[in-house]
Amino acid sequence: MDYSKQIEKAKEHLGKLLGQQFERIENMKATKDFINYDELDTIVIGIVGGDGIGPYITAEAQRILEFLLKDDVQKGRIKFKVIEGLTIENRAKHNKAIPDDILEELRKCHVILKGPTTTPRAGDPWPNIESANVAMRKELDLFANVRPVKVPEEGIDWVFFRENTEGAYALGSDGIVVNDDLYLDFTVTTYQGSYRIIKAAFDYASKSGANKVTVVTKANVVKTTDGKFLEIAKEVAKEYPHVEWDDWYIDIMTAKLIDPKRRTQFRVMVLPNLYGDILTDEAAEFQGGVGTAGSANIGTRYAMFEAIHGSAPRMVEEGRAKYADPSSIIRTAGMLLEHIGYNEEAKKLSMALDICGQYEKKLVITGRDTGATSEEFANYIMETLKREDLEDRWKSYL
Ligand code: IPM
Ligand code: MG
Repeated sequence: MDYSKQIEKAKEHLGKLLGQQFERIENMKATKDFINYDELDTIVIGIVGGDGIGPYITAEAQRILEFLLKDDVQKGRIKFKVIEGLTIENRAKHNKAIPDDILEELRKCHVILKGPTTTPRAGDPWPNIESANVAMRKELDLFANVRPVKVPEEGIDWVFFRENTEGAYALGSDGIVVNDDLYLDFTVTTYQGSYRIIKAAFDYASKSGANKVTVVTKANVVKTTDGKFLEIAKEVAKEYPHVEWDDWYIDIMTAKLIDPKRRTQFRVMVLPNLYGDILTDEAAEFQGGVGTAGSANIGTRYAMFEAIHGSAPRMVEEGRAKYADPSSIIRTAGMLLEHIGYNEEAKKLSMALDICGQYEKKLVITGRDTGATSEEFANYIMETLKREDLEDRWKSYL
């Protein structure tokens, strides 16, 4: 058989992809330092509801942010920008992961709070467009996906630094169908992309006092890309001689996370995109599942904070959207507050969430009319935030 035509076509496709990646590398090289929120007169917080229950729970998180930031909202230091239309219907209509006008709105924000968005796959009633999460991470260059997992009673105190713009995700919707028999997907590792995420992890380990980084790859098999990631880790580690570090392969790492004796020794993990996707779901399970986990997507200019549970379309269809649990997006809003320098407010919110959701439980969310509505629950959190004895009360439960 003569395959020269297919090979030529595939080469041409690959050439285009390489061109795009070099462009990305040039952008990374030109990127300046992290934005300094303290220097901004106004911080614009984008509120993106997304699909299904998203707009309902996100609106409650916004109310809580408005409550906590009341003074600065009045002074004009904080502005909210509600961005509509990042729904699967509208994305399908434009046949785009993020329609252009919405992207333009997103770019006017400094930080974004995002509800769940539907990720189509082949066979769905929607066109098989790229995930809005993945597109937003790439478009706004949100390279660090930071996911903390804490279970104090079990000695679990982890922070994952998942690379968020490269690896298997970079060209996840750009693979090559060479012919009916042969299919290629790619994994992308760049020097710049690896260096910045590994550096962010070491930096965090150093500043937070965790002082321990675990680098996770499959460098023994995936030699070119993971091999380079590990090599860069060695280079970065030299810049942080006081930070202890080790490296693990993703398979054994996945196993050791369920070993109660080993797992407490991990503190800060840094890993390529797909491994990070998988390992953080496993990790979140110890804490009560992905619904309890928040995810910070951080770049030098933008940052996006999202709940990582689904959009629960059935709750909307059955008229139960107002009973959706807003805890996860509210916790994520707390990460946003901390990120822009409102540490005191973030700490209070975290305590109020613990009190309302885990300890005092004057109201419970059941997802239906047997429990509280999202709005009632958010009010409960705000009442709790107003308490003079908030911190003492929180401590009394520990
Ligand atoms: C996550 C999610 C996304 C991902 C999906 C929804 C595309 O699983 O944030 O971990 O794979 O990154
Ligand atoms: Mg995931």
